[in-house]
Amino acid sequence: MKATAPPPFFIANVESDDQQIDAWANQPLLASLEQGGIDWPSSCRNGTCRTCIAQLMHGKVRYEIEWPGLSAEEKLEGYVLPCVAFPCSDLALRSGNL
Ligand code: FES
Repeated sequence: MKATAPPPFFIANVESDDQQIDAWANQPLLASLEQGGIDWPSSCRNGTCRTCIAQLMHGKVRYEIEWPGLSAEEKLEGYVLPCVAFPCSDLALRSGNL
């Protein structure tokens, strides 16, 4: 039996904007948010300033940098940094102003 390839994109529901976008698996969530026409706050785009912080209501992301600018507690609470977070599933996201 042939293994199925992972989908090229997932569906992201953006609760704070009440919108749905394509979240491409091969790029950070922030890029997909912007391509979807969502004006998401950002600055450094490298996972340090936290301007883009969001909370995942469901779904999974992965990081290509070792430790993005989030505490272990924030990660447990579902906070993510879309500028460096890559989607691994369909997800729901809301603006995470702490
Ligand atoms: S834009 Fe700075 S952490 Fe995402």
